Amino acid sequence: MQRIRNSKFPILLTLSCLIASPKAFCVDSSPSTQNASSLELFEGKNVYRIYCAACHGDLGDGNGPAAAGMSPAPRDFTTGVFKYRSTPSGSLPTDEDLIKVVQWGVPGTWMPGWKDLLSEKQISDVVSYTKSFLTESHKWDHIEPISSLIESPPQPDSKILRDGEGFYLLFECWTCHGFDGRGTGPSAKTLKDSKERSIKPANLTNSNYRAGFSPKDIRKTFLTGLSGTPMPSYQDMFLIAKEDIEEADFSNTLPSKAQKTFHDFLTHLPSYSDLNKLTEIEQKALIIRNEWALVHYVRSLAKKENLIDWFFRSNPESESLKAKK
Ligand code: HEC
Ligand code: HEC
Repeated sequence: MQRIRNSKFPILLTLSCLIASPKAFCVDSSPSTQNASSLELFEGKNVYRIYCAACHGDLGDGNGPAAAGMSPAPRDFTTGVFKYRSTPSGSLPTDEDLIKVVQWGVPGTWMPGWKDLLSEKQISDVVSYTKSFLTESHKWDHIEPISSLIESPPQPDSKILRDGEGFYLLFECWTCHGFDGRGTGPSAKTLKDSKERSIKPANLTNSNYRAGFSPKDIRKTFLTGLSGTPMPSYQDMFLIAKEDIEEADFSNTLPSKAQKTFHDFLTHLPSYSDLNKLTEIEQKALIIRNEWALVHYVRSLAKKENLIDWFFRSNPESESLKAKK
């Protein structure tokens, strides 16, 4: 990533919420507005004891009696490191983010969905209670989601898929997820989470994504990153000019088929002077278009794996069941 030149355009190459020091970077330390009433907390505690403590532990530290050997492990609520957020890398999640995870669960992990068993009120109470585990040095504040997450995706076409593959190569997603998306890239074996446990990159060819497979969910995942894991945040990185990239630096590491795709992608990138001609609104639209390009490419990795699954799940509306609308 460091091989992309620092340009005059706002490409922020800081992967601010990497696992190295999650406490320092991943926690919003503004003053507390823990405004749950004591009744809510009391009710929430009752729900928590019955339904959550076995995995997440009485102390909320993820060390419940059932947690031993679970991978991924139940979340430790004391550290303020949360994976499933609509908020920027380094922030705590919103209440809505937490409620959504508790309602729908995390597919392919031990975290069940609770919406059929618990009422809305019980879920909101238990979420308030889990928030109370956060250690004193970090506080819940009013947290805003990234505003552009409400945008809707354009239809995929061959140009957008070409550019999406280009970004996948440029941002070196393949070093972890592999060229084919199966999660077996060269760095895959060495990855650790923020608690020094081994962690594997997601297999992107299996559309049962933990963080959701709808276009909006996938875009959210790479814009916000999965805090506490090596999956970085790629916010503010999608306005790139030809001149920012030294082709040779990248091409040497790519197999010959990918070299051709990458070269093709570079020739179609705008130059500095093209970008300078754009208004701020046009630049913003280009950024969002490029983000969707990567989304469509990631989804196409799963399409190759299972055409039938892709067909039934390519309509975002019909995905709400799996993808936690
Ligand atoms: C059978 C074990 C189990 C039970 C019971 C359970 N969880 Fe979880 N929970 C997990 C696991 C495992 C994860 C981690 C999933 C991941 O990393 O993708 C998790 C993740 C979460 C997250 C996601 C946090 C984030 O990083 O975004 C929340 C919130 C959560 N659990 C709340 C609850 C609540 C509230 C209850 C009770 C109503 C509960 N869990 C019950 C196992 C469990
Ligand atoms: C340093 C290694 C690394 C790089 C680079 C990386 N990822 Fe990831 N990614 C991971 C890991 C590890 C996970 C799984 C985290 C977990 O277990 O929850 C993941 C998870 C994901 C998920 C979530 C899948 C799910 O089940 O919801 C998506 C989508 C994803 N990555 C896409 C990308 C894209 C696109 C890029 C490049 C822009 C990228 N990743 C770059 C390591 C990486």
